[in-house]
Amino acid sequence: MRKDRGHFYRPELVQKFADDITGQNPFSDSSNGLFLSGPRRTGKTSFLRNELMPALSNYGYLVLYCDMMNEPGYDAFNAFKVAVSRTADAIGLSGLIGAGGMGFNEIKVPSVGTIDPKLIAAIDFRTVETALSDLRRKVSKDIVLVIDEAQLAMTHHNGNAFMAGLKSARDQMRSDGQQHLLLIMTGSDRDKLMRLVTSKNAAFYGSQVQEFPLLDERYIDFVCKLAEDFTKVQMLDRNKMARAFELFEHEPQTFKSALSTILSKRALGSETVVRIETQMVDMAIAQRLALIERFQNTVKALPPLQQAIVTLVAEKGENFEPYTQVSLDYYTRATGEVVTPSRVQKALDKLRADDSAILWKSHQGQYALQEGAMARWMREGRPDEISRSGRLSKRT
Ligand SMILES: Nc1ncnc2c1ncn2[C@@H]1O[C@H](COP(=O)(O)OP(=O)(O)OP(=O)(O)O)[C@@H](O)[C@H]1O
Ligand SMILES: [Mg+2]
Repeated sequence: MRKDRGHFYRPELVQKFADDITGQNPFSDSSNGLFLSGPRRTGKTSFLRNELMPALSNYGYLVLYCDMMNEPGYDAFNAFKVAVSRTADAIGLSGLIGAGGMGFNEIKVPSVGTIDPKLIAAIDFRTVETALSDLRRKVSKDIVLVIDEAQLAMTHHNGNAFMAGLKSARDQMRSDGQQHLLLIMTGSDRDKLMRLVTSKNAAFYGSQVQEFPLLDERYIDFVCKLAEDFTKVQMLDRNKMARAFELFEHEPQTFKSALSTILSKRALGSETVVRIETQMVDMAIAQRLALIERFQNTVKALPPLQQAIVTLVAEKGENFEPYTQVSLDYYTRATGEVVTPSRVQKALDKLRADDSAILWKSHQGQYALQEGAMARWMREGRPDEISRSGRLSKRT
């Protein structure tokens, strides 16, 4: 595969995860499933697709990728069929099982991919377990199944059954102390991904969710060098640039486009005496401030009971329970009115009502804030620079 010049590669991270999931590291539990959470836009999908998945293919695994983000209705079974169909087609399995050629009858799935019904018919698709075992037999390879944004599957009515099927497949496809089905799941929200492993009836109860390692100072150095080489700017102060990256929520794309905006303005002659690093930090603060203001306005606009619920969900994370006496007492204290379970029920429904819903609910009745960044802001407040700038009064 051709390397992307703008992508910062982390071969040591690839090696670590590969060792963990393939059982080379005897201290890791990841051969039972690797669960990775990380905030939005921090490079999870790019890492999987550009780095980890190609490496695992090179090791000889058949790698299937389920993109839950682009799956209408978040139906994991369908995303799985698309993944099998796409991969099987890519590796020429259609020829192997006699399904290719003329008259290829594809079902178009909007914006997602295509499912070849002959291919699917040629694989024993009664359940996710039968499909995976049959596929493994046909390709004579062990399988890695990647589910990106796995928590989305849990909002669909078949999500739990799908996860239970995967766990069963994983257990059945273990022999001679070797795991023949490896599972990797990511989520852009730790609170939500945790639901797959913390609740007693969750399929992967007891597994650990790991934080996806954020890009670090080596990435900052990589981008600074690109800028210094490409535009012949002065040597950039790595510490200040790292602080800007942090304030940009460790999002590589945002960081790079801010730098690109500043560099183009300079190239067009609107050069200022302000150093690039300072401009970067200022841009990051302005962006963060706008985000916090949006969160503040959203929370302020809610009726008192909904505000109290949102605050409690943010504080408690996966331990939030809407109707316990402790929670009811909390709402009563916060609103100054006696709050009954039926009022809580109505408020919860309202918070999930439309596309801009503030609250997320799994099919098993667990709650989290839709936006992980909002939960983080409510728990942690704002960074020092923004408080010092005095541009915002204290949190509501
Ligand atoms: N290692 C990297 N080097 C350079 N740029 C990167 C790297 N990883 C990600 N990016 C850039 O950041 C953007 C966001 O990355 P990506 O979509 O992989 O993040 P994500 O964590 O999966 O986000 P989401 O939560 O939206 O799914 C990408 O468009 C890519 O341009
Ligand atoms: Mg992603």
